[in-house]
Amino acid sequence: MTKSGGSALSDDVLVVHGGTPLKGEIRVRGAKNLVSKAMVAAVLGDTPSTLFDVPAISDVDIVRGLLELHGIRTTLDEERSLRMDPANMVNAGVDEINVHAGSSRIPILLCGPLLHRLGTAYIPNLGGCNIGGRPIDFHLDALRAFGAVIEKQPDGMHLSAPKRLQGIKYRLDYPSVGSTEQILLTAVLAEGVTEISNAAVEPEIIDLICVLQKMGAIIKVHTDRVIEIVGVDRLSGYQHRPVPDRIETGSWAAAALATHGEIYVRGARQTDMMTFLNVFRTIGGAFEVDDAPTGGGIRFWHPGGQLSPVALETDVHPGLMTDWQQPLVVALTQAHGLSIVHETVYERRFGYTEELREMGANIQLYRDCLGGTPCRWGRRDFLHSAVIAGPSQLHAADLRIPDLRAGFSHLIAALAAEGTSRVFGVDRFITRGYEDFDNKLASLGASVERP
Ligand code: EPZ
Repeated sequence: MTKSGGSALSDDVLVVHGGTPLKGEIRVRGAKNLVSKAMVAAVLGDTPSTLFDVPAISDVDIVRGLLELHGIRTTLDEERSLRMDPANMVNAGVDEINVHAGSSRIPILLCGPLLHRLGTAYIPNLGGCNIGGRPIDFHLDALRAFGAVIEKQPDGMHLSAPKRLQGIKYRLDYPSVGSTEQILLTAVLAEGVTEISNAAVEPEIIDLICVLQKMGAIIKVHTDRVIEIVGVDRLSGYQHRPVPDRIETGSWAAAALATHGEIYVRGARQTDMMTFLNVFRTIGGAFEVDDAPTGGGIRFWHPGGQLSPVALETDVHPGLMTDWQQPLVVALTQAHGLSIVHETVYERRFGYTEELREMGANIQLYRDCLGGTPCRWGRRDFLHSAVIAGPSQLHAADLRIPDLRAGFSHLIAALAAEGTSRVFGVDRFITRGYEDFDNKLASLGASVERP
């Protein structure tokens, strides 16, 4: 054991007896990083919206709580269809909103929709994973350009729109996902045309554009990361089945590889996973796409033999997404030879490797850019490249989860390791993005227990 667990965390721990290959089937629902944004889009409509296949994760609960505070009635049925009725919207109290401070990054996306519907907005201090500075300068700069007045206070931000927001021509310094969504969600009801250049085009963003189009928006996605939005006077509600969660899919795929197992991820879709699938195959993992008319999915397995090392760089879509990096690094500790991973999206996304090292992994971090993609973090004090020498026999440890994706990777490492590990912080972090993971682990034959 490397660290002792504190009593404050004793009810937030999963005991993992490692060394059993994960085998079986799990299902993924709508992507966390679309569902939460589609919920925000429901604010823009003047009739009810319904979102299907909503995952049971705490980020959904947080956004639902915020919608309710603004008078949007929400109902969730047994099939996990979420109905949101914005007929009686109201301004919410600052104290009530502050209850959600620090819990998620989604509240910032409510700015434009609340300004359109209510004329004012209060946004609490944001939460989210500690994987870098995570500034919101692009968001605020764009909102000001639309005509919003922003007053920053210690506990949060007060925003107002003295008149209807006006369309803008805006170039993002970096194709940021959240900033692109912020501009989309604000531009659809702004007066006139908005053009975003250097926009992010992740599958979840394209799916959000589909949601907004269903509501009555006019949005054109041009070549070269340019998106044009023609503002309209009103939007109605929508009905939408979200894009499946490609991050959760990749996490289970990496777990199959690291534990020498086989996992069928029902609901996974090949088009969203193409970059990941290429890497998975290059490492030596096997997969089969099931296009059954009744839903389908992707089966991932370790075919036996040695895994191969790779050189990877994370990037914006269509590059390898940064949220796949951590689970893949755990799998790469089992590859034969030297792998190189250059993280170009976030400056501090290798913190979790310290615990992997304590478990026996051979991972060195570097400040240099070990890759060909121009990166904002080179020649600065950020350990954003990793060299992984494998294979390593991982051994059990006490692990403290630092953030959502790193947490799931710790879990994979514990499942692949010899012996019994304790993973602390599972409820606090993993439930933010992984639905029902205790039961999913049990159904895959993992030997896990709650003490
Ligand atoms: C989204 O975060 C996701 N979160 C992240 O997933 C994901 O890792 C990330 O996109 C990249 O794909 C949600 O969708 C809720 P960004 P977001 O704005 O929108 C810089 C998970 O675990 N930047 O694309 O916050 C920023 O610092 C999470 O599900 C600015 O400089 O990410 C970062 O280096 C973790 N100024 C880069 O852009 C700004 O105003 C990309 O961030 C905004 C961002």
